[in-house]
Amino acid sequence: MFDRLAAGSCLYDYPAESLAKLKALVPQGGRVLDVGCGDGTIGATFDSDLHVSFDISPRCASLAASRGQAALVADAASGLPFADAAFDTVACMDVLHHLGQAWDAVFSELDRVLRPGGALVIIEPDARNPFVRWTQAPGSPIRVAPCDDEPAIDPAALLPHLEGRGYASELTATNIDGAQVERAVFPLWQRLLKAPFVLGLAWWCRGRPSKFAIVARKPA
Ligand SMILES: C[S@@+](CC[C@H](N)C(=O)[O-])C[C@H]1O[C@@H](n2cnc3c(N)ncnc32)[C@H](O)[C@@H]1O
Repeated sequence: MFDRLAAGSCLYDYPAESLAKLKALVPQGGRVLDVGCGDGTIGATFDSDLHVSFDISPRCASLAASRGQAALVADAASGLPFADAAFDTVACMDVLHHLGQAWDAVFSELDRVLRPGGALVIIEPDARNPFVRWTQAPGSPIRVAPCDDEPAIDPAALLPHLEGRGYASELTATNIDGAQVERAVFPLWQRLLKAPFVLGLAWWCRGRPSKFAIVARKPA
C-alpha cells in the first residue's frame, strides 16, 4: 500500500508548522534512527550527526535516500540490521498503529538498538479524538485511512510497554497536519457518500488534538 501511496515524490504534504512541531519533539544531534521513515520528509528537517532511516516499503526507502538519508528496507517487527545501542535517538512516527499485533517484537528491537539514556520518540494518531478514532477504525463506515487495519491508538495502551522496560515517559497531545498526497484509495462514490458524516464529525471534533507524542528516556 505504501509503495502505491508514495508513487510520486511525496507521501504526505506537511505544512512547515507541523514539520517544526515534529522536529521540536525529537532531540537533535547524535545518531538518529527513523523507523518507518515514509518518504523521508520529516527526517530531512533533523539536524543529526548520523541519520539512518528504514521502511518496509522499498519505494519509501528510495525516496528517503533521494532526500540524502542513509535509508534501507527493513521490517520493524523483525530483527533490525543494527548493532546494540547504535543510536542516541529512535523516532517512530505514525508507524505503531500499523503494527498492533507486533508491538512486543517492535519494542524489543527499538530498545535493543537505543543506547542507555537515549530517547525513544513516538507519535501516533490519537484514538481519544472521536474523529481520528472513527475515521481509522477497521470496518468503520466512515473509514478514510487507506489500510483496513490501522486503528488509532489510545496512549494508555502503549505506556505499559515502556514502563515495563523502565523508561520514563512524557506524554503530550498535539495537532499535526499532513495531507495524504495520493487520495484515490476509495472510489469517488464512496468518498461522496462518506463526506457529510466525515465533515460533520470533523466539525464536532474541531480543536481536539489529532496526535499524541511520547518522549521516553531509556534508563541510563
Ligand atoms: C503513516 S506512514 C508514516 C511515514 C512517516 N514516518 C511519517 O510520519 O510521515 C507509515 C509508514 O510505516 C511504514 N511501515 C509500515 N509497516 C512497517 C514495518 N513493519 N516496518 C517498517 N516500516 C513500516 C510504511 O511503509 C509507511 O511508510
